[in-house]
Amino acid sequence: MSAYELIDHEYDVVVVGAGGAGLRATLGMVQAGFKTACVTKIFPTRSHTVAAQGGVAASLANMSDDNWQWHMYDTVKGADWLGDQDAIEYMCREAVPSVYELEHFGVPFSRTEEGKIYQRPFGGHMRDFGAAPVPRACAAADRTGHAILHALYQQSLKHDAEFFIEYFAIDLIMDDDGSCRGVVAWDLSDGTLHRFRANMVVLATGGYGRSYFSCTSAHTCTGDGNAMVARVGLPLQDMEFVQFHPTGIYTAGCLITEGARGEGGYLTNSEGERFMERYAPTAKDLASRDVVSRAMTIEIREGRGVGPKKDHINLHLEHLGHEVLHKRLPGITETAKIFSGVDATKEPIPVLPTVHYNMGGIPTNYHGEVLNPTAENPDATVPGLMAIGEAACVSVHGANRLGCNSLLDIVVFGRAAALRTAEVLKPGEKVKPLPAAKDELAVSRFDRLRHANGSRLVSSIRLDMQLAMQKNAAVFRTSESLQEGVRDIASISAALADIKVVDRSMIWNSDLAEAMELENLMVCSATTVVGAEARHESRGAHAREDFPNRDDAGWMKHTLAWCDDAYKVKLDYRPVHDYTLTDEIAYIAPKARVY
Ligand code: FUM
Repeated sequence: MSAYELIDHEYDVVVVGAGGAGLRATLGMVQAGFKTACVTKIFPTRSHTVAAQGGVAASLANMSDDNWQWHMYDTVKGADWLGDQDAIEYMCREAVPSVYELEHFGVPFSRTEEGKIYQRPFGGHMRDFGAAPVPRACAAADRTGHAILHALYQQSLKHDAEFFIEYFAIDLIMDDDGSCRGVVAWDLSDGTLHRFRANMVVLATGGYGRSYFSCTSAHTCTGDGNAMVARVGLPLQDMEFVQFHPTGIYTAGCLITEGARGEGGYLTNSEGERFMERYAPTAKDLASRDVVSRAMTIEIREGRGVGPKKDHINLHLEHLGHEVLHKRLPGITETAKIFSGVDATKEPIPVLPTVHYNMGGIPTNYHGEVLNPTAENPDATVPGLMAIGEAACVSVHGANRLGCNSLLDIVVFGRAAALRTAEVLKPGEKVKPLPAAKDELAVSRFDRLRHANGSRLVSSIRLDMQLAMQKNAAVFRTSESLQEGVRDIASISAALADIKVVDRSMIWNSDLAEAMELENLMVCSATTVVGAEARHESRGAHAREDFPNRDDAGWMKHTLAWCDDAYKVKLDYRPVHDYTLTDEIAYIAPKARVY
């Protein structure tokens, strides 16, 4: 019998998270007639989607020739052939209608002279199957995520979605038959616990950038959904693939959009050389992110970094002129001033590759249904559970995501989740009675942490974890660094047994929320380093100095990682889908990846 009285709610659908993916799913669900709750730990328009800058990818062909087949080719190549091509085809085909849908929802895109949606070049997006950069990023200045998030929230309110704001989702409620039946959440305003029962739970909880010390992610990006899935015995997929964005502001880590290079910005080393010409002769500064981040790291390592410590790189925008900066890149001009004291119209911005995105996450198919792969059926799904956005691994980004494909991912798969739900459920279908004590996982976790009175502060364990991840699972990796990472995360996670939550007399306090987030981050960190140590090849963002080549015969497969309560990780693998969705495009066979 629980010591806590849980407040009950019943919905057709519960969406956890109110970033772009969660809001697009919520909107689609209510439009389809489902009684839908959106449970979110922060106010919807503060979700991390708000920080996405440069654009959403779609082959609108507003500025030059383009088509979805080129977009698909670039995405497969950017993913270094770890993406599932059926899902990539779906995303790239749906991109064009999805962006026009956003326009109709009220997203204030920037405009061309003729009034069309403005598009700019972005890394790895090319014309004619890799020939030259193409403007494919549909932009609202450099505040595209902000514009999309606000439009989707307004639409969701218009369609009567019900929001539970500042409710922290603790754990899933699973039935004995393996289906998901709901979620338990904690109301941060008064400390009450809530049991949300539903026929469909959609996790849209974002990434886990905060496993690292320096990242472009918000403090709220703590892998909550990933960890919830792991705690009910389901695997995470491809967690070793962590994207470093080339242009985080030196020391602060804040994002300077790739759109800055799309508008004509370029990188130089201490000799004033535009070094990307050596590493990527065709795409140059607009090569894919993993390629640019590695090139910058090599320049710094070889002594050609800038600044007194020769430990960063210069990003030049000053030649673009005040008008372009003011019109196309106003946000980052301001960010550069605030966080590095630089007037971007006059001097270069100091930048450094910074953790930006998690390609791995909860495995799903292109409908958003969560997978529980078995040897007999690698595509088996979990009834009643979906995951979308950065929390999910569809896998459309494979080993490396192209810029602007994340805003695309959230709208395409948020919508897809709602379309699929309408195929498998009917609005108002009876929610099955819940067998006793199925909320125990969440309640006992909450109770344990609430009374945790050990000797280690949440902040000190978190800092140890972040520094270990930053040091050992970085742009370049070796057996040595990764084995050290595995050992460090094992001993740091053991300290969680000795955690101290301050102000334990309060049923609600921010330290308790951070303790829960830290446990979630630790699941993500452990699965990341263990998966990375085991993958003996270099592919996309996973660059092993001791295994410098891609190994398609041995490693063109998805990692599956199960993490137990003691943060021990078990690995297995499942095949990459080597087929497309329709006959309109053939499977794109692996080849050397050059830009
Ligand atoms: O550089 C950027 O504006 C980031 C976009 C993205 O990650 O897709």
